[in-house]
Amino acid sequence: MGDLYLASEKRYEKMTYNRVGKSGLKFPAVSLGFWHNFGSKDNYDNMKAMCRKAFDLGITQFDLANNYGPVYGSAEENAGRILQEDFRPYRDELVITSKAGYDMWPGPYGDWGSKKYLTASIDQSLSRLQLEYVDIFYHHRMDPETPLEETMEALASIVHSGKALYAGISNYNEEYTRKAAAIMKELHCPLIVNQRRYSIFDRTIEEDGVKKGCKEIGMGIIAFSPLAQGLLTDKYLHGIPSDSRIARDHRFLKESALTPERLHQIDELNHLALERGQTLAQMALSWILKDDEVASVLIGASRPEQIEENISIVDHLDFTEEEIRKIDEISLK
Ligand SMILES: NC(=O)c1ccc[n+]([C@@H]2O[C@H](COP(=O)([O-])OP(=O)(O)OC[C@H]3O[C@@H](n4cnc5c(N)ncnc54)[C@H](OP(=O)(O)O)[C@@H]3O)[C@@H](O)[C@H]2O)c1
Repeated sequence: MGDLYLASEKRYEKMTYNRVGKSGLKFPAVSLGFWHNFGSKDNYDNMKAMCRKAFDLGITQFDLANNYGPVYGSAEENAGRILQEDFRPYRDELVITSKAGYDMWPGPYGDWGSKKYLTASIDQSLSRLQLEYVDIFYHHRMDPETPLEETMEALASIVHSGKALYAGISNYNEEYTRKAAAIMKELHCPLIVNQRRYSIFDRTIEEDGVKKGCKEIGMGIIAFSPLAQGLLTDKYLHGIPSDSRIARDHRFLKESALTPERLHQIDELNHLALERGQTLAQMALSWILKDDEVASVLIGASRPEQIEENISIVDHLDFTEEEIRKIDEISLK
């Protein structure tokens, strides 16, 4: 795909943009993540086609992390190449994010939350991404051993050095989120967002206080794996398609997730979605955005058509009380 890319002139006609907490930044209602399908063994033309499709539909946020691949770093390298080839004229229209906090390189300095790790990792990410700055740099997970002050001080110094515009946290529980926000306030650094898993099948942020707590402290939430990695679609209702995540990548989603109970729930949710005039994927995404507390659903995709299907939720986010009750009845039993 060596052809010249010109973004669609209609790219801002459909998407909606939501403020991230009390910050000045807005997220597209749907953002695109590079965790899967952007690694060294994946098809480069397909990655590029997904990025073009996403941006043409108003998806202005691409989410990365240092170790997305496999191999670690390769998603950032591929993103860097795509950004150079296609998106240089559009850099100021894009929010590019990266993270550090999980296993990245060998030895004691390539994991968790030390200043040593985060400071080196952002430089590596910027080099792979061929960028001067990322828009948000996240600490990827809580580190129970490193003082939170040190991790936050690392994020703040990365922001103050201009290598990131905003700081974020991911997988932080309510207690750590509140403490992190307080420390960052002292450091005069905007900690604007907590990236957490959230879907009809994973209600943890409703139960652990993060959904409510972030709103109280003015921090935004972006929901990752909103389709439960593809379970919240109709694709597994009649077996395992050979081009699905379960068939192609056994790292994080396994066939054992498809229990008879789970498949029954998926089937019932699918019927409900069709009654609403949506696909199950669309209903699952709309459900997350229905009450204004989540700024964006952070989807993954394996092909451009999925992105097209998923963004059309933006004009159908309303649910009746009866629909919400039914979704709870099906998914919480
Ligand atoms: N902060 C963290 O710790 C963390 C952790 C995980 C993820 N994330 C972020 O969240 C992003 C999304 O995570 P995810 O990939 O698990 O999200 P997801 O949206 O729950 O699942 C994405 C997968 O669902 C399938 N899919 C998507 N749209 C579909 C449609 N319309 N119809 C049928 N199937 C569809 C595709 O899989 P097939 O291959 O089956 O087609 C796609 O790869 C990641 O890329 C990453 O940026 C962050």
